[in-house]
Amino acid sequence: MDHAATEQEALSQIAAAQDLETLESLRVAFLGKQGSISGLLKTLGGMSPEERQSEGPKIHALREGVTNALADRKAALEHAALDARLAAETIDLSLPAPEAPRGSVHPIAQTMDELAEIFADMGFAVATGPEIEDDWHNFTALNMPESHPARAMHDTFYFPDRNAEGREMLLRTHTSPVQIRAMLQQGAPLRIIAPGRVYRSDSDATHTPMFHQIEGLVIDKGIHLGHLKWTLETFLKAFFERDDVVLRLRPSYFPFTEPSVEVDVGYSLVNGKRVIGGSEGWMEVLGSGMVNRKVIAAGGLDPDVYQGFAFGTGVDRLAMLKYGMDDLRAFFDGDVRWLSHYGFAPLDVPTLSGGVGTAA
Ligand code: DAH
Repeated sequence: MDHAATEQEALSQIAAAQDLETLESLRVAFLGKQGSISGLLKTLGGMSPEERQSEGPKIHALREGVTNALADRKAALEHAALDARLAAETIDLSLPAPEAPRGSVHPIAQTMDELAEIFADMGFAVATGPEIEDDWHNFTALNMPESHPARAMHDTFYFPDRNAEGREMLLRTHTSPVQIRAMLQQGAPLRIIAPGRVYRSDSDATHTPMFHQIEGLVIDKGIHLGHLKWTLETFLKAFFERDDVVLRLRPSYFPFTEPSVEVDVGYSLVNGKRVIGGSEGWMEVLGSGMVNRKVIAAGGLDPDVYQGFAFGTGVDRLAMLKYGMDDLRAFFDGDVRWLSHYGFAPLDVPTLSGGVGTAA
């Protein structure tokens, strides 16, 4: 029998196989139970010893040759399949990312996050209160009784109906009522900030009917004006990310603080623009003071035991100063071009170590 011709034929068929299935059917055809080479092996049993001695090694060699050829071809086909897959899955890193996220963090949200981060580092917790307030929390408890002239200055939005306790209802005109709520709910000592929306019936280039404030309140024993000054200085340096921030405290008046202090921050003129730092000019940024005894009492605490300081400021204005916007109304227009220019990357969360506001 011409085993060499059989082997040649088998090897050329194996070499021609283009995929693993074809190769498998060849394996079955040659080496399977009914396979041609298996059939040859079976003939050995019916041979004379001499015949077997000469045929045996040839048939075994044939089987070995075909077995090896099948294994080699299988490895080669598998290799080629992997190469093809790797080539198809290649990523071109020079291409722009597909469908980059469209949204951005609004500068006010970003600024609020920065403020929370800075004050959290000084041990302040975030407190909240309702935007629909009653006039006791918004005014009376803050030492603005009904006849108080400061009430008229707040351009308050009132609701037509009183609440169950007979109190007039309104949209809070400042975040200061959260001072009262925090004292009543949490007692003393207390160290909170309260960022949030406030409302006044006022609208022009520098006023919108809804805007944002942040309130701060510290109540403890032995609190004095020095604590207030250090806190505001530390805060403003961290917020504006400059060490040369200079503060000027001016005596002022707020019903809820005594004494009251207005805080100016120094600026320098760089190419005609105001930049925070230095002291070429002064800009008012904060209202503050030592919490009035009547306010501490309204918060359910004994003013002979506890003292405190408080401050409040506009978040929108802080954002404008830091990020160089000049029209307050743009904050609320929802103009996508403005938002994509001034917005912040969603995953750039402000941290003190990474820089609170470096994502602009
Ligand atoms: N509530 C004041 C306002 O809306 C701001 C303010 C001033 C808050 C002095 C304070 C403060 O806590 O001590 O104009």
